Amino acid sequence: MKVGIMGAGKIAATMAQTINGMKHPEVELYAIASRSLEKALDFAQKNNVTKAFGSYEEMLKDPDVDLIYIATPHSEHYSNIKLCIQYKKAMLVEKAFTANACQAEEVLALARSNHVFITEAIWTRYMPSRSIIDKLIEIGTIGKVHSIQANLGYPIFQIDRIFKPELAGGALLDIGVYPLNFALMAFGHEVAKIEGSCIKADTGVDFMDNIALTFKDGKFASLHATCMGPTDRIGFIYGEKGYIAVTNINNPEKIEVFDTDHKLVRVVPIPQQVTGYEYELLSCLEALKTGALECKEMPHQKTIEVLKLTDTLRQLWGIHYPFE
Ligand SMILES: NC(=O)c1ccc[n+]([C@@H]2O[C@H](COP(=O)([O-])OP(=O)(O)OC[C@H]3O[C@@H](n4cnc5c(N)ncnc54)[C@H](OP(=O)(O)O)[C@@H]3O)[C@@H](O)[C@H]2O)c1
Repeated sequence: MKVGIMGAGKIAATMAQTINGMKHPEVELYAIASRSLEKALDFAQKNNVTKAFGSYEEMLKDPDVDLIYIATPHSEHYSNIKLCIQYKKAMLVEKAFTANACQAEEVLALARSNHVFITEAIWTRYMPSRSIIDKLIEIGTIGKVHSIQANLGYPIFQIDRIFKPELAGGALLDIGVYPLNFALMAFGHEVAKIEGSCIKADTGVDFMDNIALTFKDGKFASLHATCMGPTDRIGFIYGEKGYIAVTNINNPEKIEVFDTDHKLVRVVPIPQQVTGYEYELLSCLEALKTGALECKEMPHQKTIEVLKLTDTLRQLWGIHYPFE
């Protein structure tokens, strides 16, 4: 699988490092495309990429690229995806998949009707930690589960991509999607109610979010996301007989189980990894081999459902991007 990266930014470099570190015989770091040829050439040289392109479209014209990794700001994903579909290129699209559910529904239907593979690069969905947590809940380690508390925060409010509404900035689409996905992965997508409050930046985007999810079966999730500074990144899943603590819900490092007396009864190790981004690539490889149009770890419907939740919150908070 020859991978072509669209956009030579921060996460693109991490993905390049991942592919190089994987040393997988079937996954090759083949191309980088930037809006600037100079930037693409520099990226290619630093990251050992075979081909460098000075425009996204030029890379899409290369018949040898098998998978495009879209690593641009949220505002660009919709048009980037449409361009890839035009060239019938399979895609792994960074989170947030698009700025809103309406855009996602449109491009996912378009991809399907053109028989083009596409999936959301919400990396936590593809990681082994997901099945570890699922299994712990399933076998009743902490009894009947009832609530979740999770947080994630980074000091990134000064970054253009975060504070600019025209780039679909804000904490929710950049960071909030992780606690949201953490809760939905454990409790499912049957959400009865979503509520929340946010603190806005001068530019009008949300910088700090509190989110409360009520599930149809009576479970509850209380989530926090901020781009104002670091948080402990811990996700707790509470049950009648104890609780599970996941250190770093954005890239789990430790999964611990506590009993009713708060005694640590189990530590589940996380398998050795390159960066954690390799799992989504391996899932794409599998899908391309079998001719699947989506990944089982993050079916299209779930991508849409997450965006419907973020749409509801933004509507509640009066946050609209200029292009909406
Ligand atoms: N999965 C994760 O853990 C993770 C972590 C960080 C970010 N992300 C996601 O990855 C995506 C990119 O984030 P990033 O932190 O890598 O951003 P970044 O450093 O700003 O890079 C984004 C790149 O997109 C390209 N681009 C295209 N149109 C643009 C525009 N109008 N304004 C600015 N840049 C534009 C630029 O590349 P060229 O100039 O080369 O064309 C830019 O370097 C986002 O969707 C973000 O949420 C995911």
